[in-house]
Formats: sequence, C-alpha cells, structure tokens
Amino acid sequence: MPRFGVPEESLRPAWAGLLAEAFGLSGADVAGIAAKLGYDHCRALSVDDQVMAGLLVLPIRLSVGGALVPNAAIGLVGVAIDQRRRGYASQLMAALLAESRDNGQYVSTLYASNQPLYRAAGYEQAGSAFRASVSVPAIGLGNHELRARRLNAEDEPVIEAIHAASAVETPGFFERHPYQWERIRRPRVGPPALGLGIEEGGRLRGWLYVRHVPLGNGPMGTLEVLDVYAQTRLVALNLWATLADMGTMARTVVFNTAPNDPFYQVLPHPFVEMTLFENWMLRVTDIRALEQRGYPSTARGVIDLDVEDPLRLCHGRYRLTVEGGRGRVQPGGNGDCRLHVRGLASLFTGFASARQVELAGLGEGAESLAELCAGPLPWTRDRY
Ligand SMILES: CC(C)(COP(=O)(O)OP(=O)(O)OC[C@H]1O[C@@H](n2cnc3c(N)ncnc32)[C@H](O)[C@@H]1OP(=O)(O)O)[C@@H](O)C(=O)NCCC(=O)NCCS
Repeated sequence: MPRFGVPEESLRPAWAGLLAEAFGLSGADVAGIAAKLGYDHCRALSVDDQVMAGLLVLPIRLSVGGALVPNAAIGLVGVAIDQRRRGYASQLMAALLAESRDNGQYVSTLYASNQPLYRAAGYEQAGSAFRASVSVPAIGLGNHELRARRLNAEDEPVIEAIHAASAVETPGFFERHPYQWERIRRPRVGPPALGLGIEEGGRLRGWLYVRHVPLGNGPMGTLEVLDVYAQTRLVALNLWATLADMGTMARTVVFNTAPNDPFYQVLPHPFVEMTLFENWMLRVTDIRALEQRGYPSTARGVIDLDVEDPLRLCHGRYRLTVEGGRGRVQPGGNGDCRLHVRGLASLFTGFASARQVELAGLGEGAESLAELCAGPLPWTRDRY
C-alpha cells in the first residue's frame, strides 16, 4: 500500500532526485526550492521506502466572484522515470485531493502538462494565462507625470499587502505565497530583477519587477516584466512610460497578461502579440466551495445539484441558495442540475457557459448556475 505525506528526511534526496529527473533540473535545484518553500509544502508517494512520485503544494487563496477561496495550488508533479504508467500519479493526486479537502482547501488549481491525468482526477479548465509581447515603439510615450523610483526592502510588505487586498478584484488572481514573491524578486535563473515603484498622492500605487534579457551576444534585448500592478490608469500609463524609457536597448517588452487585463488595455494601440500560455485547471474538493466564492450582490437563486464525482469528494445531491452575494449549500434537493465534478469546476469560476459544459458532456440543466457564476474571464499572471 503506497504511503502519502511529507517526505521523511531519509527520503528527501531521492524525492528531490526524482523530481529533478522529471523536470530537467538538478537535485540541488529541487532541494533548494523545497528548502525555501518548506518541506511541509512537499508531498511524496512511496512504497517500501522507495519514492515513486512527488509534488509541491502551495496554499494560496483564489479570487472567485469577489471572494477568496482557500485553494491548494499544485506544481512539480513527477513520477520516477522507471515507474510511469502504473497509476502512481493518479494515486498521488487522489491522496492530495482528499488531504486538501480535510485541510479546508475547497478547490485545487494547476497547470497541466497532461490533461487526461488531471481530468481523471476531476480537474477541468477553469481560467486562462496569456503571455504578450509588445514592440517598444508601439508603447508610445506614455505619461511622465509620476516618476518611478527604485523599490527598497521597506516597500516589500506594503506591496504584498496591496496585492493581497486587490487580488479579490480580479477573478483568477491569487493571494501570493512568500515563495512566489521570492521568485519574482530574485529569479532562480537568468538576469536579476529590478524593482520600481510609482507613488500617487504620497502612497505607493504601482510597481514593476522587470529584467533585461539579452538577445544573442549583443546588448539588445527583451524587457521581461516579472510582475506589474497599477492601482489607477495614470499609474499604468507611467509604468508604460518607464518601460519605454528603459527600452532603448530592447526590441520588445514581454509580460503575463490577458485580453481583459487593464494594464494591456491602457496601451494606445491594441497591437500586441498575445499567446495563450495555457488554460489552467481547477478541481472542486468540497461542495462548500460554492459557499466560499462570491456572487453578485443582487443575484438570487435556488439550484438543486446532482454531482457525479468519481473520487466521491463532492458526490451527491445538494441545494445551493444564493442571496446577498453569498451562497449556502445543504444536502438534498431534486437534482435538476446534473453535473460531473469537472463541469462544476468550469462553471465555478465563470470560465464556461452551461452550453459549453453540455457540449463537453459534463452536465445538463446548468443555465441558472452558470448565470449566478458568470463574470469576466478568469486569468492570472502567476505561474507555479
Ligand atoms: C505526467 C506524469 C506525472 C504521469 O505519471 P504516471 O504515474 O505515469 O501517470 P499514471 O500512470 O497515473 O497515468 C494516468 C493517466 O494519465 C495519462 N498519462 C500519463 N502519462 C501520459 C503520457 N506520457 N502521455 C499521455 N497521457 C499520459 C493517461 O491517461 C493515464 O492513463 P492510462 O495509463 O490508463 O492511459 C509522469 O509522466 C511524469 O512525471 N512526467 C514528467 C513531469 C510532468 O510532465 N509532470 C506533470 C506536470 S503538470
């Protein structure tokens, strides 16, 4: 019987070695990530003291419908090269999901390299992540009314607090873990990041973490934005002006964004090359996730759900009552809205319509639920 849990100290080198092989890293890289993150965020599946599989789990709340939902974000899922296609990844995910539910993480999110694996575990596409490239001349001159200054150590907690408070405004955003801030400010590989902030009205209202990545051997390069935030339109215009001023030795600025990202939309021209990085996936681990997300304050409804969940985490009939921006879930009801747990995942974030869920064969009668959950395209700048 495989054992699941935090890798014991004696198994940590094998755990790190396994993930290093799976992701083309070194064992020292993975051990370094685990040490920074803390081994309490690492999981192993082992049989007779042999590590078969591992992953990382970040407890970061996810913005859905104007509320933050406790979430287990999963990364670095890997199985030993000589143990693949024996069901270890599936067992690892099932154990992780049961644990997440017991820990009060109502949903789980991930980027999938392999959708069949995660679909079998009940995940489905629930939001997007894009990357865009804009040529420096297309930025225009922006606005120089506000001046960027270098960020210092005292700014860091202020930035984290602003980010945490504003995450709720954008469906799909996370309340970041300190490890994610560390990766933004001090990237593990490549050139260092420069942090710049912009104040308006005497308060920090926007920032940029950016680095100059050389192209080939010459000094010309790309400006890679590792994170950006603008609380107002004026701040966004001044951040673009800062990038344009830095851009005399760069051909393009690349940044993580979305078609509905205000930071992209403020540009004078719509001409950026935006590519889909991936549609990220979500799994509802506990039906009470529907009580954790927010709803429009004027929305009202009673929906009887009949959820099919192969892992039995959300299986059964429930009545969802929505009023005053909040939902309440009770057992029972007549099951008018029939959903596979994967269909529930896509509707939960407002990513899919009832028709899309029906076309995917993941449910029927979900029109009212889709209406309650509808909102702008959920997206994130974060990769994990
Ligand atoms: C992806 C990975 C974790 C799968 O581990 P595994 O233990 O072999 O997976 P399982 O045996 O549990 O497979 C479950 C299902 O996933 C799918 N799957 C697994 N590996 C697959 C592959 N290489 N190609 C396509 N589908 C695959 C299949 O549907 C499989 O079911 P089946 O065997 O009945 O066809 C493993 O190949 C790995 O470590 N890869 C390198 C790192 C990686 O890509 N991690 C995922 C990051 S999100």
